[in-house]
Amino acid sequence: VKNKLIDRFGRTVDYVRLSVTDRCDFRCVYCMTEDMEFLPRRQVLTLEEIYRVARAFTRLGVKKLRLTGGEPMVRSNVMSLITALGKLPGLEELLLTTNGARLDKLAGPLRDAGVNRMNISIDSLQEDRFKRITRVGNLHKVLAGIDEARRYDFDRIRLNTVIMKGYNDDEVLPLADYALSRGIDIAFIEEMPLGQASDHDRNETVCSNDWVREKLEAEYTLTPSVSRTAGPSKYYSVAGSQGRLGFISPMSHNFCADCNRVRVTVEGRLLLCLGNEHSMDLREVIRDGNAEPSRDFEGLENWGDIPETEVDERLREHIISAMDLKPERHHFYE
Ligand code: GTP
Ligand code: 5AD
Ligand code: SF4
Repeated sequence: VKNKLIDRFGRTVDYVRLSVTDRCDFRCVYCMTEDMEFLPRRQVLTLEEIYRVARAFTRLGVKKLRLTGGEPMVRSNVMSLITALGKLPGLEELLLTTNGARLDKLAGPLRDAGVNRMNISIDSLQEDRFKRITRVGNLHKVLAGIDEARRYDFDRIRLNTVIMKGYNDDEVLPLADYALSRGIDIAFIEEMPLGQASDHDRNETVCSNDWVREKLEAEYTLTPSVSRTAGPSKYYSVAGSQGRLGFISPMSHNFCADCNRVRVTVEGRLLLCLGNEHSMDLREVIRDGNAEPSRDFEGLENWGDIPETEVDERLREHIISAMDLKPERHHFYE
């Protein structure tokens, strides 16, 4: 089998986003409804299954894994998965996207487990606003988590901010200042038609990053900075800070030509593009046609000892063939 994933458009896929749970302790207005229904347990990959999927990818040349959710840190025993992933041969970076609510306790253990970089969501620095956007989040807890994370030598910490008209569009500068004065990055993300937005019409809240950037340019001189992730984010450095300003602008600037990534849902569905349906069911492959997961490897002390079987080989074959399904681009705005 070859050991590199390349799609029909010549793009090398070396970055996988793994969702480890669909659950979250927040209910952000752009992501979830207030009364979300979550998946039944048996439909969700076990931690061991997630590990084997990740291992299949690293054996196919994937160098970066990002754990996402929902909120990854609400999954029980997720630390043992993270520790195991941190030891995967060939993996160069283990990344985490989190709402930050548990970092006051977990930042140190995450660094020890081998997490290189973290993205922490924060959309407001005002308690009441933060509550309005996350519905349940506690701003103080997240700020304490960010402070705690800064004590460890993560390669980088980045804040993720979705600016929405009528919610937090007057906080572009305060949020940028908060990040830059601490030497951390901040990425401004355009709201996308993903997840379930229940309390607002996205056509009314979506805010172009061109507008966000204008606000920032009035205050800072932005110098283009080379992105280390070759992903959707475009970064700029600012004199006098280690921190950078990032822009993720799927709605106003299409970045699909540089796409280097695929994602795997917690149900084991390999999604070839965020904005398209194209997918492949990996759960069926890893369960070898069974409805229930195999319990054989549960409670193993050393995850590296999970044997490679023909199931793992079939998994790799399916992943390779899925590359032909990766579409050229998303069509959010058509
Ligand atoms: P890097 O690893 O630094 O590239 O981080 P990232 O920006 O990909 O990760 P993060 O999980 O913090 O995601 C930030 C935002 O970017 C989220 O809203 C994601 O949904 C979005 N995003 C990530 N990858 C893609 C992509 O391939 N296409 C689109 N449209 N959005 C993406
Ligand atoms: N549009 C844009 N960004 C979103 N996020 C979640 N849902 C959306 C959406 N509909 C962002 C969060 C978090 C990151 C993982 O994804 O802000 O930082
Ligand atoms: Fe949870 Fe993140 Fe969705 Fe907010 S955006 S509800 S923190 S998964």
